[in-house]
Order: sequence, then structure tokens, then C-alpha cells
Amino acid sequence: MGKVFSAHAVSVDGYITGRDPGAGRGLGDGTMLFDWYFGGNTPSRVFDGFRLSEPSARVFDALAARVGAIVAGRNTYEDSEHFGGGGPHPSARLIVLSRRPAPAITERQTLVTTGIADAVAAARAAAGDKDVGLMGGGVATEALKAGLVDEVVLHQVPILLGGGRPFFQSLPEHVRLRLVEAVPAPGVTHLHYAVER
Ligand SMILES: NC(=O)c1ccc[n+]([C@@H]2O[C@H](COP(=O)([O-])OP(=O)(O)OC[C@H]3O[C@@H](n4cnc5c(N)ncnc54)[C@H](OP(=O)(O)O)[C@@H]3O)[C@@H](O)[C@H]2O)c1
Repeated sequence: MGKVFSAHAVSVDGYITGRDPGAGRGLGDGTMLFDWYFGGNTPSRVFDGFRLSEPSARVFDALAARVGAIVAGRNTYEDSEHFGGGGPHPSARLIVLSRRPAPAITERQTLVTTGIADAVAAARAAAGDKDVGLMGGGVATEALKAGLVDEVVLHQVPILLGGGRPFFQSLPEHVRLRLVEAVPAPGVTHLHYAVER
């Protein structure tokens, strides 16, 4: 069975957006969280148009190649303008987790309203032998609470945003992590953790 992991660009103080994110406003005043996608000379082999530094391309492409399906929270789906009816990844199916109907959902997307376990199960089925990616602090937290996460990747950008949507949210108990790899790169440090169970 494939693994379940989250990978987010995050500020040192733990935000995955700046202030006032939303449809048409992207990450709000936190757009620099994504600068490292375009700050180098190495084209991504998975995402057209991304040009990363060599160490970032190595880390990013290795992760992106693992993904067979993605579970995104409703906020991520809305703030990303429904991913244009497709998904955030060139080949992975998008599963949207929400408690409400989503009238704009397309045949290339799947809406799940019955909770994180069902969303991850739907993503696993869509992913086949590949892994499941999680997008959104709320979704990642729900999956951690449910014991469904194998790995957490933080692409840590050296800034204190001071506000925005937090990656780290309240958990009922400690979650122990084991550092698998730390890769310093221009404009970002890639921190790859395994969740200890
Ligand atoms: N920096 C990065 O790499 C990165 C990556 C991904 C996303 N983002 C950004 O992060 C922001 C979104 O993150 P977020 O933490 O605010 O939200 P999120 O995780 O994307 O979405 C949270 C929403 O998902 C639904 N949800 C969560 N758990 C659920 C459950 N157990 N059952 C049913 N529905 C559930 C709920 O929607 P409803 O209650 O409305 O139904 C909840 O309000 C966006 O602005 C996005 O662009 C940044």
C-alpha cells in the first residue's frame, strides 16, 4: 500500500499562507513561500514551468513523482480557484474534503463529505501503487489525528510571516517525528520527517 504524506511550503513560524489568502489573492501577502519553485535554473521533470535550484529540484521532483492522488481541504480548493477544474498535480487525481456540497466539482475531481478516513481511502484507490499527498493545514491535522500520515515534509522558507493560515493546529496528543533528511537549498530548507507510531 502506498504512503500518505503532506508537503507544504511553510514559514519558520509555521504559516502556509500569508495574511488574507483567497481566490484571486493566492497566498495573500505570503507569496514568497513559493519563490523557490522559480528561483533556479533546473527545470522540474514533473511540473512544467518550475525552475528550481539543483538541490530543490532533486527533493521536489522525487516527492512529486511519488504522488498518485491528492486530498485537498475545502479552503485549499476554494483559494486555488478550484484548480481550474483539474488538480494541483499534472497526473494525480484530486479528492476534495468538505462538509458541504461543492457545485463546481468536475468529473476530474472527487468530493468527499464523510470525513478524512473516506477521503484518504478514495485517494488510495485512485493512486494505485503510488502515494497520497495531503494539501491544507486542516486536512493534514485531521489526517494526523486519525493516524493516517506516514511522512511530513516542510519546505521551510526563512521568513516569519506573523500571520496567515497555520500548518500546525491543535492536536489531542503528541505526534513524534523522526528526521529522515534535511536539505539546505537557496531560499528554502527541505525538512523530511517520518511519523513515528
Ligand atoms: N504553502 C503551501 O505549500 C500550501 C499548500 C496547500 C495549501 N496551501 C494554502 O493553505 C490554505 C488552506 O489551508 P487550511 O488549513 O486553511 O484549510 P484546508 O485544510 O485546505 O481546508 C480545511 C477545510 O477542509 C474541510 N475539512 C477538513 N477536515 C474535514 C473533515 N474531517 N471532514 C470534512 N471536511 C473537512 C473543511 O471544509 P468545510 O468545513 O468548509 O466543509 C475545512 O474547513 C489555502 O489558502 C491554500 O492555498 C498552502
